[in-house]
Amino acid sequence: MAVQTYPLPWLVLLYFTLGLLVCCHGASENRQASKVYIVYMGDIPKGDLSLASLHNSMLQDVVPSSVASELLLYSYHKTFNGFAAKLTKEEADKLRGKQGVVSVFLSQKKQLHTSRSWDFMGFSKKVKRSLFESDVIVGMLDTGIWPESESFNDTGFGPIPQKWKGNCQTSSNFTCNKKIIGAKYYRANGEFGPIDIQSPRDSIGHGSHTASTATGGLVSKASFYGLAKGTVRGAVPSARIAVYKICWADGCYDEDILAAFDDAVADGVDIISLSVGGFPTDYFNDPIAIGAFHSMKNGVLTSNSAGNSGPGLASISNFSPWSLSVAASTIDRKFITKVKLGNGDIYEGTSINTFDLKEKMYPFIYGGVAPNTSLGYTSDDSRYCLLGSLNRTLVEGKIVFCDYFFINGNGPIEGGAVGAIFQSGANKDYVFSYQLPLSNLNLDDGRFVFDYVNTTGNATATILKTEVQDNHFAPFVVSFSSRGPNPVTADILKPDLTAPGVDILAAWSEATHVTQSEYDTRVVPYNIISGTSMSCPHATGAAAYVKSFHPTWSPAAIKSALMTTVFAMSNVYNIESEFAYGAGHINPALAAQPGLIYDAGEIDYVKFLCGQGYSSKQLQLITGNITSCSEDTKELVWDLNYPSFALSSSPGNSVTRVFHRTVTNVGSAVSSYKAVVNAPLGLIIQVQPSVLSFKSLGQKQSFVVTVRAEIGNNIISGSLIWDDGVHKVRSPVVAFASLIK
Ligand SMILES: *[C@@H]1O[C@H](CO)[C@@H](O)[C@H](O)[C@H]1NC(C)=O
Ligand SMILES: *[C@@H]1O[C@H](CO)[C@@H](O)[C@H](O)[C@H]1NC(C)=O
Ligand SMILES: *[C@@H]1O[C@H](CO)[C@@H](O)[C@H](O)[C@H]1NC(C)=O
Ligand SMILES: *[C@@H]1O[C@H](CO)[C@@H](O)[C@H](O)[C@H]1NC(C)=O
Ligand SMILES: *[C@@H]1O[C@H](CO)[C@@H](O)[C@H](O)[C@H]1NC(C)=O
Ligand SMILES: *[C@@H]1O[C@H](CO)[C@@H](O)[C@H](O)[C@H]1NC(C)=O
Ligand SMILES: *[C@@H]1O[C@H](CO)[C@@H](O)[C@H](O)[C@H]1NC(C)=O
Repeated sequence: MAVQTYPLPWLVLLYFTLGLLVCCHGASENRQASKVYIVYMGDIPKGDLSLASLHNSMLQDVVPSSVASELLLYSYHKTFNGFAAKLTKEEADKLRGKQGVVSVFLSQKKQLHTSRSWDFMGFSKKVKRSLFESDVIVGMLDTGIWPESESFNDTGFGPIPQKWKGNCQTSSNFTCNKKIIGAKYYRANGEFGPIDIQSPRDSIGHGSHTASTATGGLVSKASFYGLAKGTVRGAVPSARIAVYKICWADGCYDEDILAAFDDAVADGVDIISLSVGGFPTDYFNDPIAIGAFHSMKNGVLTSNSAGNSGPGLASISNFSPWSLSVAASTIDRKFITKVKLGNGDIYEGTSINTFDLKEKMYPFIYGGVAPNTSLGYTSDDSRYCLLGSLNRTLVEGKIVFCDYFFINGNGPIEGGAVGAIFQSGANKDYVFSYQLPLSNLNLDDGRFVFDYVNTTGNATATILKTEVQDNHFAPFVVSFSSRGPNPVTADILKPDLTAPGVDILAAWSEATHVTQSEYDTRVVPYNIISGTSMSCPHATGAAAYVKSFHPTWSPAAIKSALMTTVFAMSNVYNIESEFAYGAGHINPALAAQPGLIYDAGEIDYVKFLCGQGYSSKQLQLITGNITSCSEDTKELVWDLNYPSFALSSSPGNSVTRVFHRTVTNVGSAVSSYKAVVNAPLGLIIQVQPSVLSFKSLGQKQSFVVTVRAEIGNNIISGSLIWDDGVHKVRSPVVAFASLIK
């Protein structure tokens, strides 16, 4: 798996250059074909059984006993039951048939998918705070943390919450404090690249960024070279951080992710934040869904990034009903990098350029006329300014104009350029930093600039420092954010909601540079990056904020509070509507007082899974409960007590679906809520009863929503709002055509 920053071009390069093969020290010849498999065995069985020895003996049944212990990478026994081991395919197949095994799957490597952002959503510094905020512990499963960052200063913090059972790995100069109360790293294969630090210390930047977004303290006058200057802060500045370093320069391995989940829940974290994802699979072959399930069972919500594979439909990667899936949207600012030509024309491009050329005009050349022919490069290579393709004699000391293939500053730098101007048709709703002055123009402006450089003798140009402008269209879901529908259970709407994930300023690691290009030497305490990796910790922080007021609320209740209090989004800028933004844009200030909640516990998810065709045997193992999956427990997908309503069918069909829901009163003891329905053409929504009256807090009321939809090619978006005059408890109601697979 990998962290979900978008798209981290430098990390992508690292994956290729550092990808080391797992080998198997001292084992026999045929072990060369072994890979890491995860054997998932469900809940912790009751009784005094030693799971570690059970795992060992299961392994000894399929591998020579002399090597069993060295092949076992992890024995998971705190939060759920299972193990990770190096096995051949034949051995894995043998384990698959064994008693007590739910699933056996190959471990994969996942990818890693301001502070204006909080003010932008009306969550000001002066927002009401819970006295218990400092008891909330947020578990960050990421690339580690930079403990010296001012965002993690523990001045004024009281003692560590007593419920904390974890510890702090202090290797390589890493120390915890009263803010970072625990830290541990996971790397079962023992392979470390040159960038990796063998401690919880972050050498990539991503983990420091996400941790400070969720829970960082207030740091005034933070900026990235003067850009986005202001007070940077997390949602819950008094909350504590527990660090689980599972991602390294080459990505994040499944067996390490599961080990972190196993520990985090046992250590006593309240919320888990995980900005990592891979390819969609069935729930119990997916380590993140498995980890999130057992966290949920133990009262811990997992907040997940939706992924950076948008805007195609069904591109979402974390979509289990028991976790929160967060899309990424823009905030009300954008970064403009102007380009000025010798003829006086000025064009607005996008990028983050912190380098100051002091408006000096430099000779300007088209990469396409400057190939380095010694290695056989032609104009067809050098026009894209590919690495090694430019002729230094022609390009040195100049600004080079490049056609778009992918933007990478290394080619121009290696050719001796002072700066680079790209023309690209790519989406411009997010920006990157580069290792030299660089601006990215749209194709229309690019054509004028090409004409100028192509027809003017002694053409000149300069690139200005980036300036921040207002983005009046915000918020809209950014192009790269992964879209629904849910690829496994279409009728559970995903993503759940959206949060800021574009051009976010937050803490950075000082063991790395701004871009991690070998040519970049800029070391910064705060950096601006984009991704659903950045939106996920915004939702994590908001969830921790809700939890600080309602420590006993279940993961589903917290999720419901976040989903039903959102700012509504518009499909004007996101034609994929709810597939882009789910219920809407997170509104943490309101989420602590949702009025009503759609609660759900393990038993509800079990009924849902039962209805999805999971067998009694599997469910008994997963839940550790002897209850079998009977006709009574089998529940239709529309009856899972979810805070959104989705139905799909083949296009051209007219379908009616019945949804059963129960809400719990958490607003005013005596209250009466009226159902307000918004149903566009093609959707008929009936709610029975249409008024819910409550006499006490915690009281539950059930209702039935009947939706009749004429399924066309586009998603039809309606809503149901329970309104008591104070609270508006809003759920999207959507109907859409099933994807034809
Ligand atoms: C933490 O903040 C306090 C108060 O602002 C300051 O005096 C102290 O130097 C900071 N500590 C570190 C390690 O930066
Ligand atoms: C440990 O920290 C000290 C003080 O910041 C620093 O001088 C030293 O280089 C660090 N050592 C390692 C191994 O990072
Ligand atoms: C680089 O450009 C110069 C000037 O046009 C030319 O003389 C030289 O042959 C070129 N070198 C290569 C390696 O392409
Ligand atoms: C052309 O490329 C070769 C190989 O990388 C390099 O040694 C040479 O200096 C380059 N020449 C110019 C003029 O850029
Ligand atoms: C202008 O572009 C054309 C077509 O790409 C090319 O043949 C010509 O050499 C260019 N002229 C200059 C001055 O770059
Ligand atoms: C370009 O600059 C050179 C040197 O300054 C000059 O001799 C030449 O006339 C200029 N060419 C054009 C087309 O302006
Ligand atoms: C476990 O089983 C008991 C009765 O056998 C039942 O009441 C309970 O709801 C079950 N729990 C789950 C999570 O299935």
